[in-house]
Amino acid sequence: MIIVYESKTGFTKKYADMLAAKTGLKAFRVKELQNVKKDEEIIFLGWMKVGKIQGLDKVRNYKLAAVCGSGTGRTAEPSSEVVIERNKIKGLPFFYLRGGCYPLKELKGMDKFMLSIFVNVLKKSKDKDERVEESIAIIENGYDGVKEENLEPVLQWLKAR
Ligand SMILES: Cc1cc2nc3c(=O)[nH]c(=O)nc-3n(C[C@H](O)[C@H](O)[C@H](O)COP(=O)(O)O)c2cc1C
Repeated sequence: MIIVYESKTGFTKKYADMLAAKTGLKAFRVKELQNVKKDEEIIFLGWMKVGKIQGLDKVRNYKLAAVCGSGTGRTAEPSSEVVIERNKIKGLPFFYLRGGCYPLKELKGMDKFMLSIFVNVLKKSKDKDERVEESIAIIENGYDGVKEENLEPVLQWLKAR
């Protein structure tokens, strides 16, 4: 079993490194896949972009054992079931890991553009509940939700195998 991950700004990498340290498993970036044998079981970790787990498509021909998605939502949004469906990982264990982000003004390119639109939509929404307010603050100010304890369900799953 090995860990393979895709991380753009480093939060998912932190989880991959933590998981590697806790389990002794090796961790590779998706772009290092040439080091991975096709019959080797993989725990995949990828950051989420508009509900899609990034890098996942590149490991579909490998032996996927479990998938983790890291995002800034408190929980997988809109739900784990929808994320599983959209990412076509039915039947595989899925774990949501709360990641993080840098403040919007520090982002560049398409990511900044997409999040600027998203934050404006949130700001204009009529029923701005506490979760919406939190999402706006996270995007504007940045956030780091990476915690060791968030990996607990993944470790439990590994132990039970
Ligand atoms: C364009 C864009 C779209 C995003 N879409 C989602 C999303 O749909 N759900 C979510 O929870 N987080 C979303 N995020 C937040 C990232 O998934 C989150 O910050 C992640 O932990 C970043 O991981 P990384 O540092 O490894 O790249 C989005 C971020 C960007 C820039």
